[in-house]
Amino acid sequence: MAPPLTQSSPLEARFTTRPPCPLSATIAHRGLRIPRAPAVHRGRAHEQDPWSINATTWTTRSTTTIAASAHATLRGWAVGYAGSGVRMFEPAVPRPDEASLPTALQVEVTGACNLSCQMCLVSYRPRLGRSAHMSLSSLRSLLDDLPSLREVTLQGLGEPLLVRDLEAMVREASSRGIRVGLNTNGTLLTAAKSQALIAAGLDWLHVSVDGACQETFAAIRVGGHLDTVLNHLRQLLLVRAELGVNRPRVQMNTVVMRRNASELDALVDLAADVGVDRLWIQGLSHDFADVEGDETFVAIRGWTAQQQLEDEQLDALLADAARRARDLGLDLRLPDAPDTRAPRTAGEPGCDWPWRSAYVGYDGTVQPCCMVMGHERGVLGNIHEQPLSSIWRSAEYERLRDGLRSEHDPPEICRGCAVYRHRF
Ligand SMILES: C[S@@+](CC[C@H](N)C(=O)[O-])C[C@H]1O[C@@H](n2cnc3c(N)ncnc32)[C@H](O)[C@@H]1O
Ligand code: SF4
Repeated sequence: MAPPLTQSSPLEARFTTRPPCPLSATIAHRGLRIPRAPAVHRGRAHEQDPWSINATTWTTRSTTTIAASAHATLRGWAVGYAGSGVRMFEPAVPRPDEASLPTALQVEVTGACNLSCQMCLVSYRPRLGRSAHMSLSSLRSLLDDLPSLREVTLQGLGEPLLVRDLEAMVREASSRGIRVGLNTNGTLLTAAKSQALIAAGLDWLHVSVDGACQETFAAIRVGGHLDTVLNHLRQLLLVRAELGVNRPRVQMNTVVMRRNASELDALVDLAADVGVDRLWIQGLSHDFADVEGDETFVAIRGWTAQQQLEDEQLDALLADAARRARDLGLDLRLPDAPDTRAPRTAGEPGCDWPWRSAYVGYDGTVQPCCMVMGHERGVLGNIHEQPLSSIWRSAEYERLRDGLRSEHDPPEICRGCAVYRHRF
């Protein structure tokens, strides 16, 4: 069966500056509302780029027509801007011949790490070394196999800056016109590394900061030093400014939990002070209930249960953080609010990730997404045995998608996922 969400893909274009956009006017003229990037936003909207314009799911014939005409207007307008140095990314709508392949991919370039964070599976499994890196040639084969790709994230579990070929990998994706970015713990992000990543064409960089003081930071990010990471972040922003470019977009990422809940306001202040483009606050990714009997997950499951905040408590903290961010003019993304979710229509999946993206581990294991921590869960194949393009179209992948369409019986791995529960 054809995937529902690639048929009605978000109309999306991204710009590196914020010129006035005639698309909004076109849409408004036709009586439709287009979400603009607010200073504080929740959930998946603007997931990758605060300046993106998303006209969400178009369902009826007439709105599809309007979407098409708005799309044409946008392209014409963007071509005009191209001459004035504005860089435009292609709309994330697959070409017709690529419609059934993913437009986004997350590649775990290494499973090794130099920290042991409390919420991360890296700290609960045997340590991995340099042999747990993905090779540049494997990445090349993956990109060759998927001409549909518009966006690649070069990180999974593990610390990507440990990978010697990282800049070459960024260049490999970027030279094919694919947007490329990653998350880092920031410990190895020297000014020289920042320069090299910018030169390679990095589009976004997310740096993880889970505490506003060293005590909290080190209690969560075990082995890490807050000052080192903040200095690296400031240097990166300086290098970017000196080069006169506005990529990569730099984001600070925080996982909210009991241990750092009282520091959310201070983290907002910190992000504003450092001058990052956005602060992204997310919840714990999974409750690991699907692996209740599995020894590998006992410890992280217990830790997660103890650190998970109650919905009401979390909402109050987030409201405070939102107020503060507004006062400071900081772009802030907050976790989704489950009670604001529109009821699902018949057949609408509880999560659309398996229709648009996939996750490949350092050893070639293919899984539906990054939320399924560990190479043991939700495995759909291995790129060293079968190309991802055929794994993507396999009966097993289809079974997962079918499960996500069902309202009361989602796949086991999805039940405890924060994205599926709208709490990420
Ligand atoms: C797994 S890390 C890998 C990249 C890099 N080592 C880093 O720390 O940013 C990617 C992101 O996932 C976050 N993360 C780790 N465990 C998580 C969990 N249980 N729930 C939510 N986010 C988590 C990290 O804080 C980080 O922002
Ligand atoms: S969150 Fe990142 S830095 Fe921390 S242990 Fe996991 S992979 Fe390593």
